[in-house]
Amino acid sequence: MRRTLIAGNWKMNGSRAALAELAGMANAAAEHPGVDVVVCPPATLIAASCDVRGDVIIGAQDCHAAAAGPYTGCLSAAMLIEAGATLSIVGHSERRTGQHETDAEVRAKAIAVMAAGMTAIVCVGETEAQRDAGDAMPVVAAQVAGSVPDEATADRLVVAYEPLWAIGTGRVPSIADVTEMHAMIRTRLAAKLGAETAAAVRILYGGSMNAGNAAALLAVADVDGGLVGGASLTADAFVPIIRAAA
Ligand code: G3P
Repeated sequence: MRRTLIAGNWKMNGSRAALAELAGMANAAAEHPGVDVVVCPPATLIAASCDVRGDVIIGAQDCHAAAAGPYTGCLSAAMLIEAGATLSIVGHSERRTGQHETDAEVRAKAIAVMAAGMTAIVCVGETEAQRDAGDAMPVVAAQVAGSVPDEATADRLVVAYEPLWAIGTGRVPSIADVTEMHAMIRTRLAAKLGAETAAAVRILYGGSMNAGNAAALLAVADVDGGLVGGASLTADAFVPIIRAAA
């Protein structure tokens, strides 16, 4: 009942030349209608991406919580929608760490995204030190409790579990650890949103997902897709992940 979702987060990478890669991804999305394919380019490319996106859903990488105001360099949900985005990542660890975003700020951003009619991908994940200390589960549970809005609905919310130590490192957690973490996240979502909503929310795995490990990760019961960084930058790297999800 949960459609698999494969999302690419281009982070601060890509120029207009990368739209040729997006066109290749659009071909794969058309060939695999059972998979929701998302690409989140830099905000400067959202509008141009919409011209070549085909069946690919175009998303943003962040969204300000306010509708408008004195927030230099920030973009509101309405601005992102006007550019063509229908989804936004919020609370990526690179923003939680680099911009010191708190759970409360991430929750406010998610509320703004959903209220505007877009889907929010809310990111959670533990550091290596937290995992080594045996705290991965409580850390992520607290992030889910603090970052996911109580009023979230399954069509407007996606959760992405991205252990920080797996991002861009080539390392991935064991299948047993991913299984345990995703099951815990769904249990926490059920406590917050009710069992029916929690059963319908997609939970993505992110962190060094690639063509070689995607099938095994996507086979985990509560893994409903992937949030892919480096391997989403080219069609050659991203399309095999879309195929693995089909
Ligand atoms: O948001 C996706 C991301 O943080 C994972 O990045 O490069 O490890 O796939 P990467």
